[in-house]
Amino acid sequence: HYLGLDLGTSSLKALIVDEDQNPVATASASLNVTRPAFGWSEQAPADWIVACEAVLAELQAKHPAAMASVKGIGLSGQMHGATLLNGADEVLRPCILWNDTRSHEEAEELDDEEARAITGNIVFPGFTAPKLLWVSRNEPRTFERVRRVLLPKDYLRLWLTGEAASDMSDAAGTAWLRTGERRWSSTMLRRTKLSEAEMPRLVEGTEASGTLRPELASRWGLPQGVVVAGGGGDNAASACGVGVTRPGTGFLSLGTSGVLFTASAGYDPVPDTALHTFCHALPGLWHQMGVTLSAAGSLEWLSGVLAEKPGALVAQAGDDLRAPGRLLFLPYLSGERTPHNDAAVRGAFIGLQADTSRADMVRAVLEGVAFSIRDCLDAAPHASWVRQLIAVGAGSRSELWLKIMASVLETPVALPAAGDFGAAFGAARLGICAATGADPDSVMTEPPIAARYEPDETLVESFARAHDRYRSLYPALMAAGR
Ligand code: XUL
Repeated sequence: HYLGLDLGTSSLKALIVDEDQNPVATASASLNVTRPAFGWSEQAPADWIVACEAVLAELQAKHPAAMASVKGIGLSGQMHGATLLNGADEVLRPCILWNDTRSHEEAEELDDEEARAITGNIVFPGFTAPKLLWVSRNEPRTFERVRRVLLPKDYLRLWLTGEAASDMSDAAGTAWLRTGERRWSSTMLRRTKLSEAEMPRLVEGTEASGTLRPELASRWGLPQGVVVAGGGGDNAASACGVGVTRPGTGFLSLGTSGVLFTASAGYDPVPDTALHTFCHALPGLWHQMGVTLSAAGSLEWLSGVLAEKPGALVAQAGDDLRAPGRLLFLPYLSGERTPHNDAAVRGAFIGLQADTSRADMVRAVLEGVAFSIRDCLDAAPHASWVRQLIAVGAGSRSELWLKIMASVLETPVALPAAGDFGAAFGAARLGICAATGADPDSVMTEPPIAARYEPDETLVESFARAHDRYRSLYPALMAAGR
């Protein structure tokens, strides 16, 4: 058996698969985010450990036989978070998360030609490097004590194995990596008053990074010496889960944030478009992705305001695809990454009228998120090669949303058959590669597809017109956010 652990933003999930990659058991524990000030988003690393102990204790209690035969573990996690440790590997302050925008000024300062040439990306406020610059200026006493900076899943790895290591896909989201060469950049580190000494060792996602500490193995009934793979950032791990590891393949993730992800054979950055170019979790591969910060998060917001569960709310809008109405929604609830790189912009409903209904608002939200993902697609040079996008994430449960996506993106959208093909599954697959040395191509197959949604040729034109109206509104919102 193999174990995948995905340290998400809202929960930590564990999945055990058997030798044939069939899911055998899963457990999860929820996590809280605190927002102590405008644009801030933090988590206590101690909570990750508590969550990890809870899920592994549950798996041991319910599935002792599967646990006793685990041969490899893979890690996946929310990207970009800054976990700061002192010389004794003690946590110095709450982790500053990926969706925290407090360091937008530091990001702007770091984001120049040199940074883009080295990292292949814009330095976004959500990335790790500007967060450290912010800490050095605003919490200098904490900064002086920093001896190690780890990404969230790598802090979990340190606790699990005693090893300070990161994998290339997650490391690429720090703005400290020479993304094309897959090694740390001393220049970028120096610009944030750090050096390679504070950085973890780098491994590929499919490589072993260490073995589980003996006392933890005994505690959970796992064999001694279980290999822990490098693993991947949650998007690269999800890609491994749905077999998006060959050029021309892609996926669409509708989680709290929305991601359009394509795999590429070479390193081919396009930083000016706010598209991310990162290493994949497999050696010799890179990937590109556009990120919209509030996808299913927008629906959750509406659901909270209207006091109705997201599923029930979407059901009111029906299943049938129709031309978009007058109402437009711009999903910039936490600012936007691709294509605007704008931490200050906020969202809007435009075109409300006296008879606007709940169903109209729901459709506008689903369409608005689709338009923001269309913006990501338009930024991606290789996106036209993608023959279909595999849909993952909580939002993929809505058939209407997937139909809207197919027509707005003008690309077929494929929904995997019921099963577990998320980041935890991808992490388990990386665990298989690290433990057995199996060829990633034979491990990272595509999932069985339950439904495929084709673009509706009779509606593509009206969605394109609505997308033009959507795009024309950004400058006004940008000005209003200043
Ligand atoms: C990717 C990103 C998010 C987080 C979510 O750049 O910021 O998708 O990884 O966990």
